Amino acid sequence: MLKKVSFLMFAMLSLLLILTGCGKDKEVSTAGKEEESDGKTLRIVTDANYAPFEFLEGDKVVGFDIDFITAVAKEAGYEPKVESIGWDPIFVEIESKRADVAVSAITVNDERKQTYDFSVPYFLSTNKILVPEKSDIKSGNELKGKVIAVQTGTTGQAAVEKLLGKNNKNIKKFENNNLAIQELLKGGAAAVVADNTVVEEYVKNNPDQKLKVVEDSKAFKEEFYGLMFPKGSELKPEFDKAVNAVYENGKYAEIYKEWFGTDPDLETLKAQQ
Ligand code: ARG
Repeated sequence: MLKKVSFLMFAMLSLLLILTGCGKDKEVSTAGKEEESDGKTLRIVTDANYAPFEFLEGDKVVGFDIDFITAVAKEAGYEPKVESIGWDPIFVEIESKRADVAVSAITVNDERKQTYDFSVPYFLSTNKILVPEKSDIKSGNELKGKVIAVQTGTTGQAAVEKLLGKNNKNIKKFENNNLAIQELLKGGAAAVVADNTVVEEYVKNNPDQKLKVVEDSKAFKEEFYGLMFPKGSELKPEFDKAVNAVYENGKYAEIYKEWFGTDPDLETLKAQQ
């Protein structure tokens, strides 16, 4: 009888030990996990009206930029949560630090650098002119005297203002680039000025709309895209490192090839750092 009782006590005691032991382990590991995913989810903002960089497929934001930021964020140890909020709001949300990173084919320039921080460059771009196939516009200069549609607050707008004059009424500004293209299609504008990859992709995907792209490397300079952060963000050095890591480990080339069918010119990008 005594044997039985002490055995029972021994069994209960060990069970208790196992249970509390287990309980503790579990607590530690879930707390650790929760902390990890909570602390490391980043709010990443974009304007998903700029294929092939960012656009909506149903209600999903997809594009080169999205694959790129996903690879870079993972490399840096973060969980990216991408939200399409529109172009102008991107700048508001980053300046007020309500968002952590913006990825939106954003050109790095001196004016923006005063208010925001940027990663090392990740894409080479230039503005080009989108016109109807029958248009006789052959250069930036020939945009003068014509109605030109642009997306508000882009380098395309700035480039057209430089050619036509800042407050020229012939410059029609739209909240996003797709609206500018719609204006061209319905005859409300003679041309759209926007990033080369975007207008070239548009012509390729919409042969029935009979449009073409005109380039003018004198009127439109080389630009580089960067990831945009709030001024002083601690993420910048971490993301610069991660961008270089995806350059080196082949991930950037893989994503680039998936979207553009060719190999990227990594040397040109790296030479900008
Ligand atoms: N690269 C140009 C700029 O930074 C246009 C970018 C527009 N991007 C967009 N997702 N709408 O001004």
